[in-house]
Amino acid sequence: MTIRTAVSDRFELITVPRSRGVPSFADDVARGLQGDPKEISCKYLYDDVGSALFDTITRLPEYYLTAAEAQVLADWGWQMVRLLDAPVDFLELGSGSAVKTRLLIDEALRVQTQLCYSPIDISTEALRQSSLALVEAYPGLHVRAYAGDYFDVLGSHAVRLGRKTLAMLMGSNIGNYEPEDARELLALLGAALRPGDGLLLGADLKKDRATLELAYDDPAGVTAAFDRNVLARINRELNADFDVRNFAHVARYDAARGSVDSFLEARHGAVVTIRSLNLRIQIRPGERIHTESSYKFTDDEIVALAATGGFAPAAAWHDRGKRFAVHLLVRQ
Ligand code: AVI
Repeated sequence: MTIRTAVSDRFELITVPRSRGVPSFADDVARGLQGDPKEISCKYLYDDVGSALFDTITRLPEYYLTAAEAQVLADWGWQMVRLLDAPVDFLELGSGSAVKTRLLIDEALRVQTQLCYSPIDISTEALRQSSLALVEAYPGLHVRAYAGDYFDVLGSHAVRLGRKTLAMLMGSNIGNYEPEDARELLALLGAALRPGDGLLLGADLKKDRATLELAYDDPAGVTAAFDRNVLARINRELNADFDVRNFAHVARYDAARGSVDSFLEARHGAVVTIRSLNLRIQIRPGERIHTESSYKFTDDEIVALAATGGFAPAAAWHDRGKRFAVHLLVRQ
């Protein structure tokens, strides 16, 4: 059952509960740390500390993705909102407090007087704050925000669309899903949209190993701190005793898979107790815990992936260094 709250006359918040049977943080940690190889899902990197560290990552020179995408939007955003024929409404997977969402809102409000912006985000607080800031900044904007997991929100049929909709999945977020999950997400999004609706998909392009590995292992150690924070989170929330300093952050580009894979590698063997789970975990010297994969694409791979959700290519733009792509795809 969804819960609808009218926060103001231009901002409504719809909360979509977790579907039954979806594992909790505790369930996922217990399963992932008892497996071989060990893993922790990258969605758990984003508690308050992790989100603040990620925000810092997006401003690091080595992590070129954010600046490259912002450049594409600054150069071509005017075309992106016009190609579907105004007026459009926006549906964004992500909470859109960022500069890039504002850029597209600015462009849309140049060619239409009203815009309904619907962000979907797991964090109710992030949604509330970014939505309030947006309605305050734009008198012509109405926000209908959905708090919940992307899969739950899209699968619940809670999303109400009015005018022609331009959906957005930016920031190479699609790259953090394993290929079968990425296909499932695009299929759900395709099912929520109608023929003629659009999807802006921002994705990082395949490139040389050195650039990619540096982007995920910056010399200042911010990405390492972001990665290690997941162990500190397990300590905080599940009453565990990981010695976080025993783990080195490792990021390797696997060209065959097309992903930069991040791991926490134990310098020494250890036994970790997770009291809330009543678990003791043995860790071998040099053993790696997989924490994230960031897939990279060619333009053809982006088009092929989107096709699985029923989308056809309409246009594509790149930053001036051709490091990052934004594709406009139209639901068939
Ligand atoms: C959010 N996501 C697209 C980032 C990425 O590039 O995979 C997360 C990230 N991990 C380390 N640095 C950035």
